[in-house]
Amino acid sequence: MSIRPLIILPDPLLRQVSKPVERIDDDLRRFADDMLETMYDAPGIGLAAIQIGEPLRMLVIDLAKEDEEPAPHVVINPEILGHGDDSAVYEEGCLSIPDYYAEVERPATVTVRYLDKFGKQQEIEADGLMATCLQHEIDHLNGVLFIDHISKLKRDMVVRKFKKLAREKAPPKLAV
Ligand code: NI
Repeated sequence: MSIRPLIILPDPLLRQVSKPVERIDDDLRRFADDMLETMYDAPGIGLAAIQIGEPLRMLVIDLAKEDEEPAPHVVINPEILGHGDDSAVYEEGCLSIPDYYAEVERPATVTVRYLDKFGKQQEIEADGLMATCLQHEIDHLNGVLFIDHISKLKRDMVVRKFKKLAREKAPPKLAV
């Protein structure tokens, strides 16, 4: 297993629509392990493949608390089958938008069909944090970020800040 570098806003990869996983084999399971290790190291509770540069429709989630046994979920080719009428608000963050948090309103319950890491079809009726986390990560597979769910004013401010940070981190260009 290895920890992979995270893609950070405003990297255009984050806006790419990921492609379905076509083959679930040992290579893909190793990749899922890398995703989990990268997520635990960050630390975070969810990670989509595109966040480490692979445009695959695949995500990992682990909502176990620090004093609990790890409970990793590997979710491949997820499809939202439906959601409830109620909505819920959580303060969300994202490993690709470090140190920024904002309240986001989403459906409180969601039904998702997906393949597990052995290629077996699963269906989950999620609520609470799991419902929000699944929707946040599935958004990533479609090039959507949680800041797309906040006001344009706030979003523009965040994007500007991260563009500035990226410029400051870039090596100086030499015109010779
Ligand atoms: Ni995210």
